[in-house]
Amino acid sequence: MDAIYVGWFGLVIGFVLWWWNEYWYIVPLKFKCSKSATKLPLGHMGLPFIGEMLSFLWYFKIVRRPDDFINAKRRKYGDGVGMFRTHLFGVPSIIVYTPAVNKFVLFSDDNFKQEWSTVELLGRTSMMAVHGIAHMRVRNFVLNAINRPKSLSRIATFVQARIVTTLQSWAQMGKIKLTFDNIGKLFLSKEPGPFLNSLDKLYEGMVPGLRAYPLNIPGFAYHHALKCRRKLEDIFWMELGKRKNENKVKSTSDLMDGLMQIEDGEGDKLSDKEVVDNIVSLVIGGYMSTSLSSMWAIYLLAKYPIVLKKLREENMAFTKDNQGDFIAAKDVSKLKYTNKVVEEVIRMANVSSFVFRKVVNEVDYKGYKIPKGWSILVFLRYVHTDPENFNDPMHFDPDRWNIKEIAKSS
Ligand code: HEM
Repeated sequence: MDAIYVGWFGLVIGFVLWWWNEYWYIVPLKFKCSKSATKLPLGHMGLPFIGEMLSFLWYFKIVRRPDDFINAKRRKYGDGVGMFRTHLFGVPSIIVYTPAVNKFVLFSDDNFKQEWSTVELLGRTSMMAVHGIAHMRVRNFVLNAINRPKSLSRIATFVQARIVTTLQSWAQMGKIKLTFDNIGKLFLSKEPGPFLNSLDKLYEGMVPGLRAYPLNIPGFAYHHALKCRRKLEDIFWMELGKRKNENKVKSTSDLMDGLMQIEDGEGDKLSDKEVVDNIVSLVIGGYMSTSLSSMWAIYLLAKYPIVLKKLREENMAFTKDNQGDFIAAKDVSKLKYTNKVVEEVIRMANVSSFVFRKVVNEVDYKGYKIPKGWSILVFLRYVHTDPENFNDPMHFDPDRWNIKEIAKSS
């Protein structure tokens, strides 16, 4: 008899837990919806507190097929308009996964603002966390520092020499470290050695926390990442103090000096906290993205020797034209095949699987309501791996980026 009661009790508890989030979040919104005749995207809000996090982690970490998280929903709910409701990373969310809806979200800054649930890790005053003029001010400087012809030319010359030396040492060393050393030099004027090694270790501990559930409890990735961030901050505060004492900020030699000198239209500079927050997050932005993409590039080129042959032929022709050892920055846009290889590596590497946005105004999209205050998870990688967007998506084929095919997939 007792066993029957326990069984029923378990069933009732399970039922309540399964539907809790639906009632908590959806029922109040459904009342509002009936008035405006729009409905919420299909989906399920999962269990209280953790939402659908277990299923999400199952696809990402255990079976290692992240896109099947979406495929499972498409099978269950149908295609709809390219979005599902869910509860992830501690907040009610809409997950979007088609080119059209992703574009709609990413191009509507007024309705969806960039906001990571792990903002504490990025730094409250970093470019990734602030909006409006504050965002534009730092963004313009960073673009000038790393993405204009003069800076690209400086970076291209510097980086190529380092890449060649490091690749040559690969055979003897068995293991190479390249991207972080380049970042150390370009962002902080530091040469390879114990200082950069300790920074590197702290960043390695911090990055996994960026897309983790923001639980500040020992044993969780976010907790460890926060600890690493605090240590990084201490190091950068010391570096800032040192630079100020040495009055080293006279020359714009690296990104940190640049951030210390940047002025807005009224001649105001970034505060010390802004400099530290931004240098911490810019190293994140520039580090893992480029090192993982480079690793994938090497892997894919080794796997597809025909592509490597064509790539080498194009590059060798340009180095001959220049009568020097390296490619000049002015020629980068002329390297047509190389540019397609880069596009294809970025598509297949998917180093940024998804990005977050916060809904600041309630929006209707094709009859579906996107509620204010919810989070949007823009699933970038699904666009790259969905056969509806790219033929045979797991095949590394730089020629798919010929103009006609780009038109098809954009
Ligand atoms: C293959 C290399 C890279 C990839 C795949 C990549 C990917 C991305 C993506 C997807 C975003 C958008 C984030 C969002 O909208 O929420 C982004 C933003 C950003 N990335 Fe990268 N990135 C790369 C290299 C770099 C490098 C080298 C830097 C140098 C510092 C950098 C700095 C930034 C910054 C500052 C932002 C924020 C821009 C803004 O908020 O206006 N990234 N990146």
